Amino acid sequence: MTPATTGTTTPRKRLFVKTWGCQMNVYDSARMADVLAPLGYAPAETADGADMVILNTCHIREKASEKLFSELGRLREAKRAREAEGGRMVLAVAGCVAQAEGAEITARAPHVDIVLGPQSYHRLPEMVARITRATGSVIETDFPAEQKFDHLPEVSAPQGPIAFLTIQEGCDKFCSFCVVPYTRGAEYSRPAAAVLAEAKRLVAQGAREIALLGQNVNAYHGEGPDGAAWGLGRLLRAMAEIEGLARLRYTTSHPRDMDDDLIAAHGEIPALMPFLHLPVQSGSDRVLKAMNRGHTAAEFLAVVEKLRAARPDLALSSDFIAGHPGETQEDHQATLRLIERVGFAQAFSFKYSPRPGTPAAGAPLQVPETEKDRRLHEIQALLRDQQDMFNRSRLGMRMDVLFTGSGRHAGQLAGRSPWLQPVHAEGAAALAGQVLPCEVIAIHPNSLAVRILAASSTGDPPNQEKAAA
Ligand code: SAH
Ligand code: SF4
Ligand code: F3S
Repeated sequence: MTPATTGTTTPRKRLFVKTWGCQMNVYDSARMADVLAPLGYAPAETADGADMVILNTCHIREKASEKLFSELGRLREAKRAREAEGGRMVLAVAGCVAQAEGAEITARAPHVDIVLGPQSYHRLPEMVARITRATGSVIETDFPAEQKFDHLPEVSAPQGPIAFLTIQEGCDKFCSFCVVPYTRGAEYSRPAAAVLAEAKRLVAQGAREIALLGQNVNAYHGEGPDGAAWGLGRLLRAMAEIEGLARLRYTTSHPRDMDDDLIAAHGEIPALMPFLHLPVQSGSDRVLKAMNRGHTAAEFLAVVEKLRAARPDLALSSDFIAGHPGETQEDHQATLRLIERVGFAQAFSFKYSPRPGTPAAGAPLQVPETEKDRRLHEIQALLRDQQDMFNRSRLGMRMDVLFTGSGRHAGQLAGRSPWLQPVHAEGAAALAGQVLPCEVIAIHPNSLAVRILAASSTGDPPNQEKAAA
């Protein structure tokens, strides 16, 4: 039987996807585009005139959620304009706000056609078909028993030299402040064979660096080809065998799941980049306990020490929350002390934002807004100094750079250092996709300027980075 022909008979439809939130959402947005491609949807640059718009949302802090409703306000006009020209714009809200608020979204914004949670993306074609046959809206925020990964098509669109690959989703940790266990559901790890197969396809499409993603990526415990549960250390070792893959990263990790095998992997796998995002949130044991983080400040410091022993050039990033309920001035000082002790290459810090339905939101002793601002400001000033110091320490250093594409100026290439710093160099666009030895010649506020030392890569994973003597 020959399959039904497409192309000449199926008119091309324009799909615009807007993404907020974490890299998991970026990955999911690409998968939604993949699942809609067979229906004739091709990516569009703007919402204006699009046949379908997907807003992939984040619920992590109040500010993130609010962005959805301001965007929906703007889209009401674009949707009307599309109808005025005799077309139709299917408007879908996906992601964590969709999961958390469900039907409340259509109540507040009736022009939304589809509301779908992160576990329902494989059902998108069926929902689009339902909506184009009838009027009204479709809401799908169950956690279906079958895993979405089994039902999504293979990754189809090349992502470029740096690719993301979701290996784990959901979270069972229930930190006091966090919505993720409610929006992403229970922890689930994809089987190792599926991960490795996807990684090989990404490399065949031009990926040189793969970042493994998960809300709790180092809690990974996927089924191995041998039937045993594989930890992340084991998976990384298998990933490192993939020919043509030069660099590996993983994010986001929890300090509690940093086991010895994973720590050892940092010393044994040259392709595993010497940069780790390890959120600690607070340096106070009292606050860490109230947050339900399951470790103390000393235990975090011990993990950092072990990591640095395994990989001396490892640099760290983290997340901090200023003003969790009950946080005193003394607790805040403990956070500043922890930051000083560790020395971060970069980090994110946030003002505590009460999220409906989480234990901390209803806790007594909420910290006043002005005090949260003040503490956040202090944390950020310290982190900024550390980041500047780290960047300056790279001056004159030799390092391998993965070039990803053209830079902002003519004749300029953009890339990433082993520590994820944005890098630019003079060089031909054809060098994109290569890992090349470079020397850092200048430090800019948000990037490093480098000189390419040899314009041919060996194709081998980079060696441990060597600092210029
Ligand atoms: N799984 C990761 C974090 C995911 S959320 C982990 O366990 O560390 C990303 C970051 O957002 C968190 O690390 C935390 O610093 C911040 N965050 C989460 N909920 C928050 C809230 N209610 N208010 C402020 N920041 C929050
Ligand atoms: Fe949220 Fe905590 Fe789970 Fe991270 S570990 S996703 S902060 S509940
Ligand atoms: Fe946001 Fe959901 Fe990611 S709440 S941070 S998009 S898991």
